[in-house]
Amino acid sequence: MKRKDILGIKDLSKAELNELLVEAEVMRGHIDRRERLSILSGKTVATLFYENSTRTRNSFDTAAKNLGASTMGISVATSSVQKGESLIDTGKTLVALGVNAIVIRHSAAGAPRLLAENVTASVINAGDGQCEHPSQALLDVFTAKRHFDDLAGLKVVIVGDIKHSRVARSDTLAFTKLGASVTLCAPYTLLPEAIEEMGATVEPDFDKAIADADIIMPLRIQLERMNGAYFSTIEEYHECYGVNERRLERAAADSIVMHPAPINRGAEIDGVVADGYNSVIEEQVTNGVAMRMAMLKYLCAQ
Ligand code: CP
Repeated sequence: MKRKDILGIKDLSKAELNELLVEAEVMRGHIDRRERLSILSGKTVATLFYENSTRTRNSFDTAAKNLGASTMGISVATSSVQKGESLIDTGKTLVALGVNAIVIRHSAAGAPRLLAENVTASVINAGDGQCEHPSQALLDVFTAKRHFDDLAGLKVVIVGDIKHSRVARSDTLAFTKLGASVTLCAPYTLLPEAIEEMGATVEPDFDKAIADADIIMPLRIQLERMNGAYFSTIEEYHECYGVNERRLERAAADSIVMHPAPINRGAEIDGVVADGYNSVIEEQVTNGVAMRMAMLKYLCAQ
């Protein structure tokens, strides 16, 4: 019996991760050959985003269309949410409109789970507060697997604003479930408490953390989630934690640079690195469509 929802990497077994990785590779082939499928013909996928998005929302929309589904984009800013309609009532309304799957992003941790418990449609978490972003982690391990084949034993370094990052949580869970080791690097002010419980190592010195790394993943500083000063200046932060060409020389020879994006050039990453030969940032975006096709097929196909 397949699951109804995908709410977090924490819920997924290693076998499920591997099943999604195999399916995503098949989907990537369809994308490369520009093939449209009819696996979800007659189904409707809604995107319900209470926070801004460029990649995730459009990626799920494209993925659904590639599988033959209809799509419904709910713009929260112009919806009846503004008249006080609750999340559960909004979800029930979408189901009554014929929606089979709801892709939701919300600023509150746990909102996708609350929705999933109250609607018959499948629910996919597209990012909830500072909790999880499972589709990002799945596309990240998929991108890494396409480069290294076996993730076991790889060293993944995630550097930056770990404290406010749902990507850091989901990626740490996904990479460690698949046998990689994850090192988290940030100033102490940007590290959440008890982060080691997720199976990661903490190394606040970036020059030490990046040594022999196979994957380097800088994260954006999430100023929109900060209510105080966590570092002195962007220039000083960049000096200590920015990914630049000099630091990359300390990483493994065949290392890759990933970033969930959006990126802030000159803050967590130099432009020359973001556009460099070992950057896979744009590849992550295309792979995101493939993985989200795999996720929608996994949940919604008969
Ligand atoms: N990586 C990511 O979630 O990007 P968006 O905010 O553009 O969806």
